[in-house]
Amino acid sequence: MSRNYVTGNSPECRNCVCEFNRLTEALFWSRIMQEHALFIKLGLPANEPELIEKAQEFIERFRELRKRLKKAYKLEGELLKDLIDAVKDIIEFKAKLLRLLIQCKAEPGSNYPLLLDHIRREAMHFLELLKKPEAKEPLFMLLQEQVFWLRIMKEHIEFIIHLLDPSERELLNQAEGLRQTFSRLLETARDLESMAETKPKTFNAVLSFTRNVITAATELRNFKATAFELAELCELLSIVSTPLLLDHVRREADKFLDEMEALLPSVRKCNTSIG
Ligand SMILES: [Fe+2]
Ligand SMILES: [Fe+2]
Repeated sequence: MSRNYVTGNSPECRNCVCEFNRLTEALFWSRIMQEHALFIKLGLPANEPELIEKAQEFIERFRELRKRLKKAYKLEGELLKDLIDAVKDIIEFKAKLLRLLIQCKAEPGSNYPLLLDHIRREAMHFLELLKKPEAKEPLFMLLQEQVFWLRIMKEHIEFIIHLLDPSERELLNQAEGLRQTFSRLLETARDLESMAETKPKTFNAVLSFTRNVITAATELRNFKATAFELAELCELLSIVSTPLLLDHVRREADKFLDEMEALLPSVRKCNTSIG
């Protein structure tokens, strides 16, 4: 199954320094934010009309911002400010919903607490990129992105497991294998990130680890793409609210893969003795 390049030029590395492209990131993440609002809306119980309306407002707000972003050459000024405000507001909305669930002050609908926390973290990651897109050393950026994304990927599998019908035994079995793989990879990425704090001049072990990560993430990406296709054809038994959710998590896997492939050559060049 072929991958389409989602964000090919972000991050970009030059002279052993890597930086995210703010506009490219904004184009990717603002669509993600719009879809999060849709998923929240579809997951809310019918007796929460105000929250449903609030979610709808975010869908429209991000739709408008995306129109402006598509016309922009640079992300600055008014557009940047409006985007930052919208992301801050959706973070607060997600946090508020999560708090209501944690405190048993609202009916859960079908938005899992961990899902709300997951999409809140994704929004915070986006906000960080918008506020200070810092240039970083490739090794540091690679490990930081791995720890972020591997947690996200592991949770995607956990959500899919809980949304598939119990009779989907083949897919569930495959998902369980992936869940175990990604739990292990996440643990290792955290270990490597911690070891990198000692600032070694070279860190060759990161190379083979990253190759394993890319192999596993490609497998997961294809699993999600297949699940999306099955859902579109109505060949999947599940309580997934819309097939778009499966396409959404597939795009996030592609984004992760893009980042790894963009950073790996610089890590090899700048932080290992293999060169
Ligand atoms: Fe997401
Ligand atoms: Fe996600």
